[in-house]
Amino acid sequence: MARILLGVCGGIAAYKAVELTRLAIVAGHSVRVIQTEAAERFVGRATFEGITGAPALVTEWERDPARGAYPGDPAPDHAPISHLDLVGRADILAIAPASANTLAKLAGGIADNLLTSAALALRAPLLLAPAMNDRMWEHPATRANLGILSDRGATVLEPETGALASRGEWGAGRLPDPPVVLAAIESALAPSRSGYAPRSLDGLRVLVTAGGTREPIDAVRFVGNRSSGRMGFALAEEAARRGAETSVIAANVDLRRAGGIRYRDVVTARELADATRAELAGADVLLMAAAVADFRPAAAEGAKIEKAGRGGLALELEPTEDVLSAVAQERRSDQTVVGFAAEHGAGALGRARAKLARKRLDAIVLNDVSGEGIGFEAEDNAVTILTAEEERDVPRASKPEVARAILDAVESVRAGAGARRTAAAGSGASEAR
Ligand code: CTP
Repeated sequence: MARILLGVCGGIAAYKAVELTRLAIVAGHSVRVIQTEAAERFVGRATFEGITGAPALVTEWERDPARGAYPGDPAPDHAPISHLDLVGRADILAIAPASANTLAKLAGGIADNLLTSAALALRAPLLLAPAMNDRMWEHPATRANLGILSDRGATVLEPETGALASRGEWGAGRLPDPPVVLAAIESALAPSRSGYAPRSLDGLRVLVTAGGTREPIDAVRFVGNRSSGRMGFALAEEAARRGAETSVIAANVDLRRAGGIRYRDVVTARELADATRAELAGADVLLMAAAVADFRPAAAEGAKIEKAGRGGLALELEPTEDVLSAVAQERRSDQTVVGFAAEHGAGALGRARAKLARKRLDAIVLNDVSGEGIGFEAEDNAVTILTAEEERDVPRASKPEVARAILDAVESVRAGAGARRTAAAGSGASEAR
């Protein structure tokens, strides 16, 4: 894993650098932070110090108590010049957010603070993630400075278009979400310098279904369920962070969307089935996290049903297609299909194991929805991951953490299947001989 020197400039997006730091550490990197003075007005250095377990520095005039060492490294016995030592050991300098002011200084070779001095002494790759107001981003000076910096070899992670910090403003200039910035840092790392291994899902295409379908009763009412889409979105973000080209089929999900992931919105079980079939051919892994309605009103009214003159209302429901079973039958042998089972109470494990076999899945994630504070609509989850060979309990944790455990299971299922295919090909070849 890499030594990342993270430069944080002054801007509202500095708050995202905190989560970026946390994600980088969770991913196993060793991080040191340099802030500009303006950045310190947005986020205090105690936050970065708490997360990295190392001093965060602002000026050239303060001593580095860690003497230029990254967490996990032995500290040297001399007191080095901080901007030279910190940057000399770094596998990458990532500046996120990079302000228009710092970009201008870097383009001009100005070294008037610790961050810009470190940048001038840098030999490792430089990644810049600019974030600013759209008018500043579009200004010819900013464009020219970025042109100079990319010509010199810096990697620029373009800002996204969307709501900006100033109230009511919308445009280009948003810092992409932390998982996207981390993915850009990891791809910009020079493998020879850091010994940085490729990400575990590089080159793989992952399709995730998320949320809950809604089946219309009439023009305004529907039969739905309580799924928020959080688990599915967390899976997609984790897959993208591990390098997968990730698509999400989102059924009625009202959550923030991450950059770098493709989203396709659907409403009903039928639309979800069509979208899943259309996308499946281009996927290596399907994670079927959506709560798909098992029944829909047999005849939805086009207009709103009026209550006047009715004593009651009987709804006739008809079954929907079981998308997961259908696609699991139709899939290619190199595809991995993971289902989810929302079970309630006693006997849940047995029912989930039966579903794993009946639906011919590679894995099933059992979610016991009888527990408080987990599962539907909750921030946390607690699951059991079942495969033909293994049963793994993931105790209550945040959905992003549970997503990591599920993708670890997907990786081991694929590693096992790959090994079996290689062995089968080998025995086929020896028989042919
Ligand atoms: N699922 C699906 N299509 C449906 C219903 C469910 O693809 N019409 C998928 C879900 O996305 C989930 C898995 O099937 O991955 C399990 O759903 P669950 O509701 O727990 O199981 P059922 O299939 O409804 O259970 P059973 O077969 O026992 O009725």
